[in-house]
Amino acid sequence: MTYREDIEGIDAAILMHPKVWEASGHVENFTDPMVDCRNCKSRFRIDILAETVSTKKKQKVLNALENKIKNNPEQLQKFQKFFDRRNETEEYMESAFNGFLEDPEFGKTLLNELTCPQCGNKETFTSARQFNLMFKTFIGPIEDSSAVVYLRPETAQGIYVNFLNVQGSARQKLPFGIAQIGKAFRNEINTKNFLFRTREFEQMEMQYFVNPAEDKKWYDYWKQQRIEWFASLGMNRDKLRFHDHPPNKLAHYAKEAADIEYEFPFGWGEIEGIHNRTDFDLSRHEQFSGKSLKYFDEESKAKITPFIIETSAGASRSFMAFLVDAYNEEQVKDEKRVVLKFHPKLSPIKAAVLPLVNKDGMDIIAIKIEEDLRKRLKVFYDDKGAIGRRYRRQDEAGTPFCITVDTQTLSDKTVTVRERDSMNQERISSDRISEYLYNKIYL
Ligand code: GAP
Repeated sequence: MTYREDIEGIDAAILMHPKVWEASGHVENFTDPMVDCRNCKSRFRIDILAETVSTKKKQKVLNALENKIKNNPEQLQKFQKFFDRRNETEEYMESAFNGFLEDPEFGKTLLNELTCPQCGNKETFTSARQFNLMFKTFIGPIEDSSAVVYLRPETAQGIYVNFLNVQGSARQKLPFGIAQIGKAFRNEINTKNFLFRTREFEQMEMQYFVNPAEDKKWYDYWKQQRIEWFASLGMNRDKLRFHDHPPNKLAHYAKEAADIEYEFPFGWGEIEGIHNRTDFDLSRHEQFSGKSLKYFDEESKAKITPFIIETSAGASRSFMAFLVDAYNEEQVKDEKRVVLKFHPKLSPIKAAVLPLVNKDGMDIIAIKIEEDLRKRLKVFYDDKGAIGRRYRRQDEAGTPFCITVDTQTLSDKTVTVRERDSMNQERISSDRISEYLYNKIYL
């Protein structure tokens, strides 16, 4: 995004006026349905509880429910509207099952059939209740309702309210985007799987403002661009896929939506969402703030409310996917080698500088190389232990290149560069190291 002429960067506030979150729909709609076990007091998100029930059991429970209401035409009609038997996919049945659990009429019957995963008791669940995921706090010394503010649950809204500021000062024309990386906070009830679901996480979002007539074109474009981005940074293509949201599962703001999913060791999980948010957000912020967010189109001389195509990636969640994808264990001779095969752009350390031994001036040359490289790249100096051990330590950290100063360096000023994945070594002149690394990492 940084190097595209049609994208600008921003760092918006985490605490914004509470009306921002009313306008966005988060106060009303950013909820998860939850149930409590009356016996052990555990609280579960409906979809997480549903994950503990086998597909077979779900089928059985739905059949029993349909049978129970078969003589009540009104209820039966509602049931069939929720659950169209013509769609035989497992995914559809699972999603219908979750919908039934949330429903005030059918939910109770279904929940009574399930056992609590925590204490193992049956018929102990309360009905589903909506639980807002935003963290609340107060501005100023008085903790009353007029002082409530929210920690942002997504970075996107900070972009929408600043849309015209950025467009005007950067003199951008449609289509153009505003991107930001920053913290988001959600009061998740069930955090799980390390960085996959946390309460405080990092998002990297980009909102692309387009002429409404071109929304489909840009939605398809960004879907493709974003999956390619993961692949271009070395992620295994077989472990990447799209999950297109069916129309009945779309968020309140979306006309079209797709997740990019990665196959983690615990199953497929979303790492990024691409949404066509239409003019929903800009219109709502206009309505709640009383300020125009319309864009003046020079060509048609008309004021328009652009549509927004959003690419919303979790930085921490994507990082975890890159980490899992890069992890390799290999047999090298009699030894197991653990290596993180990060794309060099993602490696936290770009090169390690190692004197073969700490004598004859090799250490002095190596320190000089390290000091020189450090001005441009994140490098690491290591002179502790046998050279083989030092290579292995860098393999485990995912360092793509190791530069070794050895006896030959003393006579001809060359060093060896060892490449992490192939373990091949080549000799280059020490005054070319910086250029060599730059070309290998960034070009
Ligand atoms: N602005 C749209 C939006 O926030 P989202 O699907 O709720 O959409 C976008 O979140 C991305 O943020 C997800 O694809 C995921 O990578 C990341 N994300 C969401 N909730 C998260 C959590 N609790 N922990 C870590 N990452 C999370």
